[in-house]
Amino acid sequence: MTAFLTSADLLERNRKWSESTRVQDPEFFKRLAAQQKPRFLWIGCSDSRVPANQIIGLSPGEVFVHRNVSNIAHPTDVNLMSVLEYAVDVLQVSEVLLVGHYGCGGVHAALSGRLPGIADFWLEPIRELRRKRAMHLVGLEGRALEDRICELNVAEQVSVLAHSGIVQSAWERGQKLLIHGWIYSLDDGVIKDLGVTRDSAT
Ligand code: CO
Repeated sequence: MTAFLTSADLLERNRKWSESTRVQDPEFFKRLAAQQKPRFLWIGCSDSRVPANQIIGLSPGEVFVHRNVSNIAHPTDVNLMSVLEYAVDVLQVSEVLLVGHYGCGGVHAALSGRLPGIADFWLEPIRELRRKRAMHLVGLEGRALEDRICELNVAEQVSVLAHSGIVQSAWERGQKLLIHGWIYSLDDGVIKDLGVTRDSAT
């Protein structure tokens, strides 16, 4: 297993990866260095078990990525919003993938009680969701409740993105842009489309 890897081991692994990649495709790094033109923006959880490229089978250069705890799109988050702006306005991605996952530690923490300091602020949208959607959560508890909130959180964040000035402006000027809400299962590695896709008509 990888439990005793050190950072020096990682540099060694990197050297080998670079070598084998160049053996397989001598032009690979030259092409990427010249330009990135990803079609997708992935916004997902920071959880180490949910690595964007690997899960959807994409190579370097094929997906622009932003990750934070519990894949939340705070409208005031200048980090996420500048990623979104660059992806939509400059890279002109055609699809945004907002990807949550079942068993999310951030969702669990938010529902388990008060957290210290900044995490408490960060995860407030999750608790707000539970208050707002209480009627739809009747009878659910424990893991079932958390998993349902993981799904609702994805739908909510898709809505936040769709209402952002960046996305609204893109749609107004006729740019093709879809925003999908997906959820990933840690149990079997399968992504489910939650059917909450937004486009300029919705
Ligand atoms: Co998570």
